[in-house]
Amino acid sequence: MKLKPSEREQIFPLPVALISTVSKEGIRNAAPWSDITPILRPLEEMVLASWLKCDTLTNIRETGEFVINIPSIEMEEAVMVCSRNYPPKVDEFEMAGLKSHISEEIRASGIEGCLAWEECTLVEEVLREKFSLIIGKVVNMAVDENFFDEEGRIAFEEGRMAFEKAKPLSCILGTKRSYFYLPQRCR
Ligand SMILES: Cc1cc2nc3c(=O)[nH]c(=O)nc-3n(C[C@H](O)[C@H](O)[C@H](O)COP(=O)(O)O)c2cc1C
Repeated sequence: MKLKPSEREQIFPLPVALISTVSKEGIRNAAPWSDITPILRPLEEMVLASWLKCDTLTNIRETGEFVINIPSIEMEEAVMVCSRNYPPKVDEFEMAGLKSHISEEIRASGIEGCLAWEECTLVEEVLREKFSLIIGKVVNMAVDENFFDEEGRIAFEEGRMAFEKAKPLSCILGTKRSYFYLPQRCR
């Protein structure tokens, strides 16, 4: 069976991150993002695919900074609020009831309550006709230790997130809407 182009994206389980940025005037912005991937190991760079008209892209171009925040399922409602198309002058943290998590290396703040924060600086933009690829260098990465399993730091050093506890939000893009789901450890 062949899938039509409009049905193709549903085969990929995708992460849901919240990209937080700040405008050059200092207005905080947050938007859900699924087309996002680490560039190989050891996670020194990330790539995001972006539609051309959004505040996130404008802010990244103007300030050269962004934070990739990993929300848990408990933040689903805030994620949906941030997906709305607010004018650039609206502080989307306020609209979604989000608090700033102060970044260590960049001016843009992260989002309190997330599982992890990757502070990134813009390395390169690959501009195509309908979208842009943003490559960011991870200049600082922090995690909330509460969300890592009972073996604590050792488990974290082994790179094993306690999925059952952390509940990182993921999604499958359907033909009419996206469906949130939770990844599960198999063994
Ligand atoms: C689950 C989810 C994933 C999304 N992933 C992307 C994405 O990968 N790239 C993109 O350009 N927009 C994506 N969007 C759409 C943006 O979040 C949306 O256009 C948002 O309004 C942009 O906000 P901004 O103008 O404040 O940047 C996604 C939306 C949702 C709900």
